[in-house]
Amino acid sequence: MKFENLVRPTVRQIKEYVPGKSIEEIAKKYALDPKKIIKLGSNENPLGASPFAVAAIQENAGKVNIYPPFDTTILKQAISGYIGYPACNIVVSGSGMDGILDTVMRLFISPGSETLIPVPTFSYYEIATLASGGKPVFLKRDGNFDIDAAAILDKVTGNTKMILLCSPNNPSGNTLREEQARKIIESVNAIVFIDEAYVEFSQNSLSGLVKEYDNLVVGRTFSKVFGLAGMRMGYAIAPEWICREYMKVMTPFSMDVLSCEAGIAALNDSEHLAKTIETVEKGRVLLTDGLSPLCKVYPSEANFILIDVSPKKASDVSELLLKQGIIVRDCTSFREAGESLIRITVGTGEQNRRVIEAMGSVL
Ligand SMILES: Cc1ncc(COP(=O)(O)O)c(C=O)c1O
Repeated sequence: MKFENLVRPTVRQIKEYVPGKSIEEIAKKYALDPKKIIKLGSNENPLGASPFAVAAIQENAGKVNIYPPFDTTILKQAISGYIGYPACNIVVSGSGMDGILDTVMRLFISPGSETLIPVPTFSYYEIATLASGGKPVFLKRDGNFDIDAAAILDKVTGNTKMILLCSPNNPSGNTLREEQARKIIESVNAIVFIDEAYVEFSQNSLSGLVKEYDNLVVGRTFSKVFGLAGMRMGYAIAPEWICREYMKVMTPFSMDVLSCEAGIAALNDSEHLAKTIETVEKGRVLLTDGLSPLCKVYPSEANFILIDVSPKKASDVSELLLKQGIIVRDCTSFREAGESLIRITVGTGEQNRRVIEAMGSVL
């Protein structure tokens, strides 16, 4: 088409984001009853959202004709109570942490800028970089998916503007060690973004480091432990100077009225939070013990586990599970993940037992 060459060159390189499969899609494809399908491919909360969050959405439905508060102070105050940082160190996004990443990239990435991405990891870092006109530079994690600060620093050039580190990492579930993080943050003239989407399922948050470093941003989400993936809410903890710049370029009013209320209610429901964490911790052990005799299971600090089904192919095994109504994530589309890795979200006790049983027949 005549106008296609107007699209920015780096955008033309983008391969579309591959989302986890939906229940509707699988029910249709395999003629299955949607009620019997279990969705363990997108790391959602198996207990759903906090009932208080659902009630808040219903109660505030009549307010959607009015713009939400511009400064989202009440939501930031609620987040502040949860994370222990003042509101001036918090920014929020109404498009999930993906939206946070987009806006942070708008601040620091321009044509010629490089981002450093240890892979396999969450694929949106690559897309967000290219969409901002930058160049993603990849380096492979080691056999346990760990990263070594020296290997990262080796790849830093004068054009490196951001380093994207995921902890716990998606899809491997391992965390970044503090001394490695410090080495990287202290040695670069670039912004380090630590993605803590799954941090509540781990004992290892690095968010305390934001107090110490002016070049660290920690991304968080309401999609996982808070069970609000459908509301698309993200936030970040960052030095005050970055928050000020962020506010200049973010889309105004991006956090909608209902999300704001749902988020505050979810933050106040410590019981649901604790129950979710307990369910995931127990389920992770059950899945790991149940699947270990069948295949390699990587240790995880997230609400999912990664397994290696070699010599079988992840695509074949996932397909057989789909036919049984179990949606898992074939990781073949993750850069440098190879062809035998599958990520499975920790579900309810019953769902986890179904996975173990199905895997027994498939492997
Ligand atoms: C590591 C990681 N970061 C960020 C996100 C995006 O989160 P959100 O739903 O807040 O956009 C995900 C989603 O699965 C993820 O796995």
